[in-house]
Amino acid sequence: MPQLVINGTKRLRGEARVQGSKNSALPILAASILCNDESVIHNCPDLSDVRASVDILRYLGCRVGCSGDTLTCDSSGLCENCIPDSLMRRMRSSIIFLGALLARTGSASMCFPGGCEIGPRPIDLHLKALELLGAEIRDDHGTFRCTAPDGLYGAKIALSFPSVGATENIMICACMAEGTTVITNAAREPEICDLADYLNACGAMISGAGDGTVVIEGVEKLHGASHMVIPDRIAAATLLSCCASTGGRITLTDVIPSHLGAVLSIFEECGCIADIRGGTVTIDAPYRLTAPKIVRTMPYPGFPTDAQAPVMGMLAKSRGTALFIENIFENRYLHVGGLLRMGANIKVEGRVAVLQGAPSLHGAQTAALDLRGAAALIAAALGAEGVTTLSGVKYLDRGYESFESTLCALGADVKRI
Ligand code: UD1
Repeated sequence: MPQLVINGTKRLRGEARVQGSKNSALPILAASILCNDESVIHNCPDLSDVRASVDILRYLGCRVGCSGDTLTCDSSGLCENCIPDSLMRRMRSSIIFLGALLARTGSASMCFPGGCEIGPRPIDLHLKALELLGAEIRDDHGTFRCTAPDGLYGAKIALSFPSVGATENIMICACMAEGTTVITNAAREPEICDLADYLNACGAMISGAGDGTVVIEGVEKLHGASHMVIPDRIAAATLLSCCASTGGRITLTDVIPSHLGAVLSIFEECGCIADIRGGTVTIDAPYRLTAPKIVRTMPYPGFPTDAQAPVMGMLAKSRGTALFIENIFENRYLHVGGLLRMGANIKVEGRVAVLQGAPSLHGAQTAALDLRGAAALIAAALGAEGVTTLSGVKYLDRGYESFESTLCALGADVKRI
């Protein structure tokens, strides 16, 4: 099993390009099966979650090619609509194939998806919404068998929570339903807009993405399209956290700064200077950060739950006390154990964590237990004195493309062994 060995306290400096968004690429790849044609997806990050999507597409009969960060998916040969458990369990996002397969073939079957254990991750909102669109869903000992005996038709769907995945599943499925679908309390994340942009390029008629009310006029068929995936705002937030943890100064290129609004305001509260120019963000961090008062995770445009862990890692040796309130997932403090081993002072009570900045951190043997938790431990280790080893690197590889190379190019001392 690979491990990272991180020799801390090297100030990060320089420029790094931000990878394409994982959370955009995954639903877009699933949606590509609607087209019965070839789609060309640029700026796809090379991640194990993306490879899991490609494996599902190939299993279903699609032809997928890869050249650099461009994936081509020709779904004209799709001949399967049942995804085996071994493929479903590789990532949470595989559930997006449910809406896509239903729309393309009229039926689908798959088991409960896998993914990081960051709390119970029900899919009730996905299933309820697909039923409103005309699906009949039978839970056969953990396998969902989904059919649309009378076809799919538009519906009014009021989400009780703006779930990102449910919004995506509905948008994908409703594209080819008869009539108009209106989703209220829809997720407003930038990745929702990116999915709508891709689907609209394929001939879908989706409006309101990003506004909370999404309207989808069903169309009879879609065609393939070319699409450029947006930059990954969470990878950007993670690199900024790594930089700030070392008191460094880095410039990120290929970012959409407006996607980082809530994140950058926390960095500024910590004493960092943020300079935004076009598609670049420069962060200049002080030698020691000041703890912000509250980091409260919220649906977009609030502070993203995915950035909570790396920001906690960077604050472990800040000055003062920060209160974290995790409003999205129930069990998203899996990184705290590793931070404590490095000398952090953090107390967790349910969805709340109180972090009292430690004067310094020291290297330790740590293990990542989830994707963003891995990022938290790396951010802290970069600012810690001595050597930290990190196991559980497979979690990191789900969401970050050659992360240690990017960090090394910025002056960090990180090796994969
Ligand atoms: C997506 C992102 C993930 C991010 C999360 C929140 C992808 C591939 N993943 O995950 O990185 O952390 O958004 O921004 O895009 N819920 C239900 N029932 C459902 C669906 C969700 O109760 O049917 C709950 C979840 O348990 C969770 C909350 O809603 O507490 C948010 O989940 P959701 O927005 O659906 O997250 P994902 O789409 O899984």
